[in-house]
Amino acid sequence: MSNLRMNPNLLNVPPYIGGKPIEEVQDEYGLRDIVKIASNENAFGPSPRALASFHHSLPHAHRYPGIADRRLRQKLAKRFNAQHSANFTEANFMTGNGLTDVLRMLALTFIYDGGESVFCTPTFPLYSIYTRMFGGKAVAVPHKNYSHDLPAMLDAINDNTRLVFVCNPNNPTGTLITRDQVETFVRHVPQTALIVFDEAYFDFVQDGNYSNSVEYVQEQVPNVMVLRSFSKSYGLANLRLGYALTSTAIIDHLSRAQIAFNTSDQVLHAGIAALDDDEYLDYVRKQLFVEKKFLYDGLAALDLTYVPTETNFILLTHLPREVKHINEEMLRRGVIIRPMGGFGMPDAIRITIGTREENERFLNAMRDVLKQ
Ligand SMILES: Cc1ncc(COP(=O)(O)O)c(C=O)c1O
Repeated sequence: MSNLRMNPNLLNVPPYIGGKPIEEVQDEYGLRDIVKIASNENAFGPSPRALASFHHSLPHAHRYPGIADRRLRQKLAKRFNAQHSANFTEANFMTGNGLTDVLRMLALTFIYDGGESVFCTPTFPLYSIYTRMFGGKAVAVPHKNYSHDLPAMLDAINDNTRLVFVCNPNNPTGTLITRDQVETFVRHVPQTALIVFDEAYFDFVQDGNYSNSVEYVQEQVPNVMVLRSFSKSYGLANLRLGYALTSTAIIDHLSRAQIAFNTSDQVLHAGIAALDDDEYLDYVRKQLFVEKKFLYDGLAALDLTYVPTETNFILLTHLPREVKHINEEMLRRGVIIRPMGGFGMPDAIRITIGTREENERFLNAMRDVLKQ
């Protein structure tokens, strides 16, 4: 027996199982040409402006990060103020090493002494993982028709609920909660619990009924936070940058959970430049919507069931063959998809909407596997 006193909470933390890396599949299957549509990455490459700015600041790599974090938050405030006729300042924003880092800070700040979090299942696994990591109770409320069951989530909130995660649109189902639904929800959640709207896929939404959660922060509803990421919208998943928007009081408290120098100036400069890259974002959205339609048609032709999506990924349900078999056969054909067993959906897979070439590869491989 060891006499070391390690944090027992960590033994209750399920590991985060990400999509298989391309290199691993290359090594395991002896293949070179791999299509990875497993991790909801932006298929159309990074924002060119972001890349140029990143390169431009690389010669300063020997310095610790400086003013860039503040510059990014100032720019975000300006941008949100223009879009929402609001009066945010840099003190309403906090950046993180990806939203995964912001979510960790949230759990550290709110869950620390056995608090509870409430969220939908299936949803992004880190809400549950971080809650447990910090010794809290994770309360998962089953979905209704692949969407959040908001009345059931309200019922699950109690005096010890600290965080309510609303992934909108939801990963992995791709569904969204409308403006009216959000309105009712926000007005009913007790102000002892922070409602966290995770909007990682915000820029890919087409539905005009999408909620405007920023308005609640602007209205100074004291328990609303909005999360956005540069990973998906600007194709910067590997640079790690995301941010929270909420009241200055919450940001002040939350930022004490921030690791010093948690993002680099290079990454922050890339983020600042990305915000000016509207041309890129327009291009990505256009391509994405065309490819979504292409995949919908292809999936229908294969008689496959899917959940219509407001994101850059599609959930395929009720697969006619065992998912383990499909996954293995797809890997053999060099296509990495995401089995949803880890999300509690053993008969489902999730695929990212890729480039035309990737989508064709996927559909051809799937046709082949289902024919066997
Ligand atoms: C809903 C949701 N939130 C947050 C993240 C993590 O985002 P980031 O890359 O900014 O850490 C993801 C990543 O897939 C996600 O799906």
